[in-house]
This record gives sequence, structure tokens and C-alpha cells, in this order.
Amino acid sequence: MITSSQRATMAASILLLVAGCNRPAETTNGSTMMSNPSEPQMTASKDPLTLRARDIFKPIPIHAPQLTGNPATADKLALGAMLYFDPRISATHSISCASCHNLGLGGADNSPTSAGFHGARGGRNSPTVFNSVYSFAQFWDGRAKDLEEQAGGPMVNPVEMASPKDHVAEQLAALPRYRTAFAGAFPGEASPVSQANAQKAIAVFEATLTTPNAPFDRFLRGDPSALDAYQKAGLTLFIDKGCSTCHSGVNFGSTMYAKFGVAAPPDVRYRPVGDKGRSAITGQASDDYAFKVPTLRNIALTAPYFHTGSEQDLAKVVDVMATSQLGQALTPAETARIVAFLNSLTGDQPRVVEPQLPASDATSPPPEK
Ligand code: HEC
Ligand code: HEC
Repeated sequence: MITSSQRATMAASILLLVAGCNRPAETTNGSTMMSNPSEPQMTASKDPLTLRARDIFKPIPIHAPQLTGNPATADKLALGAMLYFDPRISATHSISCASCHNLGLGGADNSPTSAGFHGARGGRNSPTVFNSVYSFAQFWDGRAKDLEEQAGGPMVNPVEMASPKDHVAEQLAALPRYRTAFAGAFPGEASPVSQANAQKAIAVFEATLTTPNAPFDRFLRGDPSALDAYQKAGLTLFIDKGCSTCHSGVNFGSTMYAKFGVAAPPDVRYRPVGDKGRSAITGQASDDYAFKVPTLRNIALTAPYFHTGSEQDLAKVVDVMATSQLGQALTPAETARIVAFLNSLTGDQPRVVEPQLPASDATSPPPEK
């Protein structure tokens, strides 16, 4: 994905980043990150809405964060990108992470549920991978604590990539260029090609998939003209109606779990009885239908919505939220303003050059039929 001159620049900026990491780490339950001291500062503001919003939300940092215990190097980042785009970590050699988390589609796949192994569909909608590094837990039910743990899931999930145990490491170790790439990314290790190291490299790559500079972030940093009057009215409603009691922080979500239907049960097509969410993980009946409050960053790009992917229309989603989570009905004018505000959460999309992958050769293990 990277040319050698870009690599040199990247290595230099990564070194700078590491050198700058002498301040205390910021913790977002799942993963620990270090903030970059050269982040732009908030401009002093007297605007009441800006000040209110600053109490609840944070801008996405311009610089992608470093993962504690899994430092980014140019080699590890390049390896992580290759693995993210390589379909050979799936059993049939046909599905990569990018198939379901397409970087051109807001980090999701714009499909209600995703086609994985032999077209099999899992029961849930693919969430975006963008800004996932800032989420307190991964998956709709939070069953993985961070990106590194999460990346192990899909490779072996029978309806996603369906790789048999050890397939990933065997497949990659058979390709000389991967052996070199792993050795460079994990120097000094006796057997660097492993699924555990693949997960580390993928996590480092994913941590770079952030979307700073959304109009809302420019507003929050102190530019009142970054939102129009209509969007500001939507932001005010978002706070006043209570949306921000759940959707807050840097990601407008992903800081807590909440029951889908706290105020009133949503239509069964949005919340079918078969998926009880968080209670399947905790075994607590009180967690029935609780899900991770999803991020609303780039929400305009990631239809269809809900864990079921069962609603295509963002205005409809906002109305469902108002009735099911807050027990109140919005007027069409209120809904339209909130939707306009949500559109201001689309940031700069990651620009990634699709990497050249190591070629398979005569000795490479074949795909499963
Ligand atoms: C066949 C489609 C498919 C493939 C392939 C796939 N994913 Fe996913 N991904 C999903 C679905 C569906 C979920 C949500 C599942 C759940 O919550 O139970 C998910 C969840 C995630 C999440 C959690 C995001 C969040 O907000 O909770 C991350 C991160 C992620 N995937 C990264 C990856 C990586 C890295 C790979 C490659 C190793 C990958 N995915 C391969 C469909 C896929
Ligand atoms: C009590 C907590 C809570 C409140 C209050 C709340 N939400 Fe949500 N929101 C959730 C949860 C949980 C989900 C995930 C539902 C699911 O699919 O299972 C969600 C999903 C969403 C989604 C779909 C995200 C996606 O990627 O599919 C949008 C958009 C949204 N909420 C907007 C809002 C708006 C606008 C309001 C205020 C009118 C609001 N929410 C109020 C908890 C809440």
C-alpha cells in the first residue's frame, strides 16, 4: 500500500509519535491509547451551543492513536493492510475483511447482513470499522474487548471466513513475502508468522482508519460557521430530547450498552426475538435486547441501520429511536433537523492504497472447495 518514500515519511512520523507519547495514556475500557501532543487545541468560545456540546462530545483526533503494547511501525502497518485486503485468510480464498468492511463504503458493506463463507449470511449487520479504535468494546454485543481480540473472530467464524484452526498461519507461512513481512513487523521473534501476530498487525492498521475533520468537529473546535442553522437546531434537539444520554463521547456512542426498547419495544422486524444481544454473553436476563450503543460517526454512509440492518431510511431510524428509547414522537420538522445534524458527522474518509499482495505459488495450500 505504501511506496518506499512514503514509508520513510511514515516511519519518521511514527517515531515522532512514539517520542511524543510521554503523557498519561487515555483509556477507553477496551484498548489503551496514547494521545498526540500536537493535536489542534480547542479555540476559546463563548457560544452557548459550542460549550454545551463540548461537555458531551469530543472531536476525532487528527492523528490516529497508538495502541499500548502493540506499537505501530511502518512494517507492521504495511503488513496489517495486506492482511486486511487478503482473501486468502478465508477458507475459500474469496473473502477479505474489506469484503464486509469496504473502505469506500464507510467501512461497512451497505447490505442488511453480509455474505460470508459460500454466501452464508450471519444474523447481524456489518458495523463500520472506522473509528472503532475509539470504541469501548467490539461487536454489537461487545464480546471482544479490543481490535486485536476482535480480528481473531471473523477468520474462524463458520459463516464469515470459515478458516479451519491453523489455516491462517499455514497459509501465510507458505508465502515467502509474508514470511519476510512478518519477520520485519515482529523483529527478534523465533516464529513471527502466527495468527496472534496477524491480529496485532490488523489492529494497528485498523487504528489508522479514523475520520477526523467532520463539520461537527470543526464546530466543536471553535468554528461556528461549520454547521448551518438547521444543523445547529438538530444538534440542540439531539441534546434536549436525550439522544446524547446514550450517543456521546468521541464516537457518539460505543461508551455503553443499552436495551433496544427501553421505553417501548420496537417493531419485531427491527428487533427480532431470536437475537437477545448482550444477555447471550452475560447470561443476565436484565441484558435481554441490550446492544452496544453504536457510533453515529459517518452514519450517513452506512445504511442500512440497526443490528439487523432492517431499516434503510435514516429519518425512520431517528423516529424509531425517539419512540423506543425516549418514549416520545418527533414532528417531521424535528426529525429532519436531527438528520441534517447527523449528516455533519461525516469526516475525512481514510485514503488507503490497496496493497500489492504476495503471489501464491506451486507450494501454497489451495482454497477449500
Ligand atoms: C462476512 C462478512 C465479514 C467479514 C469477512 C469480516 N467481518 Fe467484521 N464484522 C462483520 C459483522 C456482521 C460484524 C458484527 C457481528 C456481531 O456484532 O456479532 C463485524 C464486526 C466487526 C468489528 C466490530 C465493529 C464494532 O463496532 O463493533 C470489527 C472491528 C471488524 N468486524 C473487523 C473485521 C476484520 C479486521 C476482519 C478481517 C479479519 C473482518 N471484520 C471480517 C462482518 C464481517
Ligand atoms: C437509551 C439509549 C439510547 C438513546 C436515548 C438513543 N439511542 Fe440510538 N441507539 C441505541 C442503541 C442500543 C442502538 C442499537 C439498536 C440496535 O440495532 O440494536 C441505537 C441505534 C441508533 C442508530 C442506528 C445506528 C446504526 O449504525 O445502525 C441511530 C441513527 C441512532 N441510534 C440515533 C439516535 C437518535 C437520533 C436518538 C434520539 C432521538 C437516539 N438514537 C437515542 C441507544 C440509544
